[in-house]
Amino acid sequence: MTLTAKEQITVRRVTPTIGAEITGIDLTDTSPENITQINDLLLEHGVLFFHDSMLETEQHLDLARSFGELSIYPLEKIMLKPEDEPQYLTDIIDHEDDPIKQGNWHTDVTWIDEPPKLGFLQAVDVPASGGDTLWADLYKAYDALSPVMQNFLEGITVNHRMSENLLHRIGRAAGQEFVQKLLETFPTVQHPMVRTHPETGRKALFIGGEFMLSIEGMHDDESQWLIKWLKHHITNPNFHVRWSWTNGDFVIWDERCTNHKALNDHQPSYRHIRRCTVDGDKPFYLNN
Ligand SMILES: [Fe+2]
Repeated sequence: MTLTAKEQITVRRVTPTIGAEITGIDLTDTSPENITQINDLLLEHGVLFFHDSMLETEQHLDLARSFGELSIYPLEKIMLKPEDEPQYLTDIIDHEDDPIKQGNWHTDVTWIDEPPKLGFLQAVDVPASGGDTLWADLYKAYDALSPVMQNFLEGITVNHRMSENLLHRIGRAAGQEFVQKLLETFPTVQHPMVRTHPETGRKALFIGGEFMLSIEGMHDDESQWLIKWLKHHITNPNFHVRWSWTNGDFVIWDERCTNHKALNDHQPSYRHIRRCTVDGDKPFYLNN
C-alpha cells in the first residue's frame, strides 16, 4: 500500500497541553491544504517543533506569509524610506561579545494595537547544549486560577508600552530625541488582561512581560503588585515546554496564547537563530 503524505504525519506531544513534535510535514509546501493542516495543529498544541527542516530565507518567508502579513518591526517601520526593502527576517546571533538580547518571559511587541499572531524560528547554528527556549501555556495559566481570580481579571484592562529597559537600550544607541519620537509614535495601548483567542475561542491570560506598564483604574501600588504577581504566576513549570535546539530545527508558535523565554546558559558559545513573525489583530475579550 502506498502511504499518502497525510498518513505519514506523526504528532508527539512534548507535554500534555503545550508543544508537539511533528514529523511528515514538508514546510516548503505552502499549499492551502498543508497550511490548514499546520494551523490546525498549532491551534491544538500552541507550539510546533520540526526537526531536519533547514529552510532557505525565502522558504522561511514563504511559509510565514502563508499564515498572514509578514511583520516589520515597528521601529524599523517608522524609519523605512519608500526605496528601502523591509527586513522581515531577523538574525539573532549570540556570541561572546554580544550576549542574548531578550531573556524575560514575554509575547512579542504587545506595545502596539495589533501585536504579532505567530512566530517562526529557524535554528541555523546552535550550540551542542544550552540556549534552550521555553514557552508557557497561557490557556493553562488562566485555567489554573480560581473562579474568583478569573472573574476579577476578566474585567481588567492593561496599559502596555515600550519598557524602560527597551527605551534605555534604544536611547544609548540612537539618542534621547529618537526615544521621544518613539514615545509620541507609539503611545500607551490598552489590551484586555484575559484574551479570547480569535480562532479557538478559548480564554488565555495576555501577559506582555515588561511591556505591561499598569492596570487601568488601579492605584499604582495595586497595579504594580498585580503585574508582579501575574508575571510570577506564569513561571510555574507545569505550564511550560522547553526545547533543546538542534541545527535545522524549525519552530512555529502562537503568540496569542503563549509566552516565550530564551535561556542564557550557553555563553560564550555562538548561537544563530533566524526569526520572523506575522501580524495579528487587536486582542479582545468576549464575556461568555
Ligand atoms: Fe520574543
